[in-house]
Amino acid sequence: MNTNLLAAFEARKDKLFFYSPYNFVQKVAIEKQLNIFQSLLFGNKTQIVSTHIGGQHYFFCTQFLAWDTAYFKIPTYKLASVLFEGTNYKDLQQAIGHFIDLNLSQHKGYYFIEIPSEDTILLQALTANGFRFVETRLTYFRGNLDKFDTPQRYAVRQATENDALLLKEVARTTRNGYDRLHADTNFDLATADEYLATYVENAIKGFADVVLVPDDKAYPCEAFLTANYLKEEWDLLNTNISKMVLSAVAPSCKGWYQKLISEMTHHLREQGAEYIFMNTQSTNRAVFKVWQRLGYELGSTNHILVFQNL
Ligand SMILES: CC(C)(COP(=O)(O)OP(=O)(O)OC[C@H]1O[C@@H](n2cnc3c(N)ncnc32)[C@H](O)[C@@H]1OP(=O)(O)O)[C@@H](O)C(=O)NCCC(=O)NCCS
Repeated sequence: MNTNLLAAFEARKDKLFFYSPYNFVQKVAIEKQLNIFQSLLFGNKTQIVSTHIGGQHYFFCTQFLAWDTAYFKIPTYKLASVLFEGTNYKDLQQAIGHFIDLNLSQHKGYYFIEIPSEDTILLQALTANGFRFVETRLTYFRGNLDKFDTPQRYAVRQATENDALLLKEVARTTRNGYDRLHADTNFDLATADEYLATYVENAIKGFADVVLVPDDKAYPCEAFLTANYLKEEWDLLNTNISKMVLSAVAPSCKGWYQKLISEMTHHLREQGAEYIFMNTQSTNRAVFKVWQRLGYELGSTNHILVFQNL
């Protein structure tokens, strides 16, 4: 591998640690967290473009997202991170300007990046170059699952394809105005609503390991919560970490969110999870109230920036 690229990774290690999806789990050693992020960053999906300013190399790691591109009919890219050895802010700002002028102008499309709060220099340099802020995302997690205990259990079941039509409607209509797509003025609200409807449909079809819904005759099935076990990562991490992903609760099922989170915590523990994590927006007070009540704690904070040149 290019030695300048590796040197730039090495120079940014103290910030890149926070890009690891598991950085808040202290049991996973820092070196392992960096290895995980390095393989995500240098995986075969990544295109690395470099520019040279003030005697230093700057590397831009972008990933083309084929599914999103086909769905939104807009070339969609994730900017995974920017690597550099230099410490001069003006040089970094200029390097990003070059990247936009030379690369993004040739590859028109929609770019987004998720940046940990700790990477303040990159946040400043990207926003100074026209990347727009759209979302602040919190990650909550809980360990000590052997101590997870609830006074009450709730009747839930796994969703089936027969539930898909109703759950799509729930996803479409219980809008959270602050997630990336709803907050981003590049998308109209109907497109963002439909994306979530498609997401839950795909989750039921097998993209998620489990989708729980209420199994209570007093309630219509108008609430869901999806999760991925992430078992394929457990050996590498030497720690069993699972993730709750998408949820929505229609007004007809008010109060069911806590029940679903509680039951999913039991379910994931039964599958062998030692840690569970999930994301929400910093605006979603109902959600983090429920999580805190069930023993989840704040693990990390990220910001989503977007750049569109179509
Ligand atoms: C967020 C959501 C799942 C909550 O559904 P719910 O089970 O009906 O939740 P509730 O309205 O009962 O709220 C849960 C708790 O938060 C409290 N709460 C609600 N809004 C709040 C606010 N703005 N500030 C503080 N607390 C709030 C409620 O009073 C309740 O507390 P209680 O249990 O002490 O009474 C639902 O509103 C929804 O689907 N929203 C859109 C999609 C979404 O945001 N999904 C979650 C993404 S991570």
